[in-house]
Amino acid sequence: MCVKYIVLFIFISAEVAYSIYPYFDTQDFIYNVPKVYRISITLDKLLEHYEKKPSKDPEWYIALGMARGQLEYTINELDKSVPGKLKENLQNITRRMDRIRNNTDYSSFIYRSKDYEYVVKAILENLDVLSSIMEPISIGTMGTQKPYRFAFEQYVQEARTKMPTRKAADACTMQLLISAMETQTTKTEGSCELTPECSTQILKGSGLAFQQTSRVRAAGLAYLFDCMEGLDLAAHIYKLCIQVYKETKSLEAWDHPPGTKTLFMQQILYCASQGYGEFIKPRWMNRILAWQEPKGCYSDDRQPFLKLTGFIGPASAPTPKEREEEYRVKKAATSEGGACNSLTSAMALGSLVIYIRALLETDQAFQYDVLS
Ligand SMILES: *[C@@H]1O[C@H](CO)[C@@H](O)[C@H](O)[C@H]1NC(C)=O
Ligand SMILES: *[C@@H]1O[C@H](CO)[C@@H](O)[C@H](O)[C@H]1NC(C)=O
Repeated sequence: MCVKYIVLFIFISAEVAYSIYPYFDTQDFIYNVPKVYRISITLDKLLEHYEKKPSKDPEWYIALGMARGQLEYTINELDKSVPGKLKENLQNITRRMDRIRNNTDYSSFIYRSKDYEYVVKAILENLDVLSSIMEPISIGTMGTQKPYRFAFEQYVQEARTKMPTRKAADACTMQLLISAMETQTTKTEGSCELTPECSTQILKGSGLAFQQTSRVRAAGLAYLFDCMEGLDLAAHIYKLCIQVYKETKSLEAWDHPPGTKTLFMQQILYCASQGYGEFIKPRWMNRILAWQEPKGCYSDDRQPFLKLTGFIGPASAPTPKEREEEYRVKKAATSEGGACNSLTSAMALGSLVIYIRALLETDQAFQYDVLS
């Protein structure tokens, strides 16, 4: 009898202690360690695939560089209660990332347009800086966003009415980066400024699907490079991510229609990177892990979705030149061996690494399970 009481007492006091001290060595934190193990196995396999079969898609290398920065930060900040083996796993992943980067043949990259080529080169040149800037991740600001009440088909129709197209987004991002690079290299006064069209594209109106994530990306770059002085870009990104959150939940509610996996992971990557912890959900992590192809990469049949939502080209017949370009881009994004898609893989890489960081970061690590 007596023993039972003691056991019960210890159990209760332990529970109380956990809820008072949300420290690293709580039960809840320990609970995250196996999740991170699972992610690290998935990432290792994904990276192994692209180490053997290098991608020609620059987005893969941008995601790789950004993920490398997140992971290095995470490893440096690891709490001492994190098992040594897990730390070694993560370090091995960074080594693999470095090997891939070292062996990159930049001359093999395939660009969808001149504007896009400029954007990629400017981002890659600044990758070390861009990947070292971490927004703190926190939860409790996104509110309870409900999925859309309408059906997926209606969402696709609605997206068609939104701006910008990929072409317009590339043009604006290029303009933004040219202005940012100019203010960095010239000593003259003057800040990074956007043309009226470009700032309208980022700030005004509403967006959906890739139209919306492209605005988040451009706004994020504008924020990092100090463009659009006098405007509260952080507040604008916050508003965009609330809208995106509603969409991410809707894609889940519609059970991830074909072509939408890339978008789903991109939404998570972009908004979690901006610090919104609501995008960190163990059940979403499980989805992403489950989507990995047996050969290690990720695939998504996103071309039809891109067209239906109006993000790329009108549905009218493409010119031979456009068709050739499309074929080359498609070939670049689809690595050898069939269905692998390097943009999808890039978004999986980026979103999974931010999950690792979030799950191992001290004060919130235990809260993600309860988020709806
Ligand atoms: C990390 O890589 C080293 C060298 O390849 C290997 O010996 C070690 O077992 C790896 N560690 C883990 C935890 O996988
Ligand atoms: C990458 O290349 C640099 C310079 O050539 C070298 O010092 C480094 O060890 C290489 N890293 C890996 C992981 O291969």
